[in-house]
Order: sequence, then C-alpha cells, then structure tokens
Amino acid sequence: MRKKIVIGNWKMNMLTERARGFAKQVAPRLASTAVVCAPFTVLSVLSEAAKGTILKVGAQDMYFQESGAYTGEISAGMLLDVGAGYVIVGHSERRLYFGETDADVRHKVETALKNGLIPIVCCGEPLDTEAPKDFVKAQLIAALEGVSGEQLSNIVVAYEPVWAIGTGKTATPEVAQDMIGSLRFVLKERFGDAAEEVLFLYGGSVNEKNIAEFLVCDDIDGALVGGASLDPDSFVQMVNAAAEVCGQK
Ligand code: PGA
Repeated sequence: MRKKIVIGNWKMNMLTERARGFAKQVAPRLASTAVVCAPFTVLSVLSEAAKGTILKVGAQDMYFQESGAYTGEISAGMLLDVGAGYVIVGHSERRLYFGETDADVRHKVETALKNGLIPIVCCGEPLDTEAPKDFVKAQLIAALEGVSGEQLSNIVVAYEPVWAIGTGKTATPEVAQDMIGSLRFVLKERFGDAAEEVLFLYGGSVNEKNIAEFLVCDDIDGALVGGASLDPDSFVQMVNAAAEVCGQK
C-alpha cells in the first residue's frame, strides 16, 4: 500500500533562525515522514536541525546541468551537498514567472533521478482551461518523457490547479481524485503496474482543516502545502492527519 505524505513548500519565505526553530519544534512531534522544501539559503541549517529524524529536506528548484558557467544556478550535486533529498520541479510559479518550459521540466526530472534526488513534479491547469484533463495529462507526459518504469517509484507527482494556489479555493476532493485517477491511468497505459507506485499529491490551499478530505481519496497519496506549511503547529497537524488516515501510527 502506498503511504500518505505531506510536503511543505515554503516558497520565498523563512530565514535561518526560524527554519532551525521549525525543525527542532516539528521533527519530534511527527507521526510519519514528511518533507519541507525550503529556500536554498536555509537548506543546510534545516538539514542539520532535522538530522536523524523523520523530517526530510527538499529544494524548490534546481538547474539541469551538472556544473559550469550558469551564473546564479544551483545543481543537483549542490542540493545533495546540503542534505536535500527531494526537489520540486515545474512548479506553476516557476512556469509563470520564470518561463520554465515542459522541456526544462523534463531535463530537471532526468537530472534529479540520475543524482538520486526525488523529483516532485508539479502539474496543473490555469483558470479557464478548456480541457483541464488533457492539459494536465500533456504536462505530465512531457515531464516524464525520458523516464523508465523502474524509476517511477522514485517520483512524486503533485497536481496543483493554478487557480487554487494561494487563493483559499481548493478543488473539491472529488475533482482532485478524478483528475489524479486519470493521471495515474495515463501512467498505467505507459508503464503498466509500476504506475501504482507513484505518489500523487494534491496541492492548492490545503491546510490542517481540509487536508483529511483529500487524504481519504484512493488515488491521493498526500498534499503539497504552501502557506499552511510555514506554521509549525499546522504542519504537525497535517502530517499527523496523514499518518492517521493510513494507519501509520
Ligand atoms: P498553497 O500553495 O498551499 O499556499 O496554495 C501550494 C503550492 O504552491 O505548492
């Protein structure tokens, strides 16, 4: 059975002292493994503070080249060096504000896997997309183009409707389940039973009050949480709700 997992996305928030305090406060209270994707500048501090606990650390982006003259960029090796095990790839804010394309996302997925980082591949449709399912399926297929069936168990996919991010509006659990069920089916057609291994998350205005509604859905294996992941108590509540749903306690 797939486990349920909560992944926080701090976005451009958190300075070192607060990040250290968060890890110290949160890690001992977690009932199951959780991940925080933090800004590059606090990854070291967070990894150090979370060492030996079930709080894992991730980044929010990386460049697909291994090294070289790419001023301002961060490589997979650099992320590993500061203790990150996960990396968000293709978040809609990167696509929207930084022009990240499907091809960039595909390269980043490949580089992450090659280096032993777990990519959290984001997909989701903007408001007023005419055929949301087709749109999101195409994004996912493009992102996983070079991936093999064996690699699927090292990939997390987050479905985040763009209109639900940071707006306080969520997709209904039924709509999220329907979309994620279809995405899993697409992977089944391509990869067979290996698609059952992929963890699919819902993201977009998830918080400690609404998370359980999503976690009880068959195909939803967790949540990618922005705003509500900044508060230590909310984060612990969400993670422990996930543990409860799948009897991990
Ligand atoms: P939100 O962000 O929870 O603040 O809506 C989710 C995300 O962007 O991953």
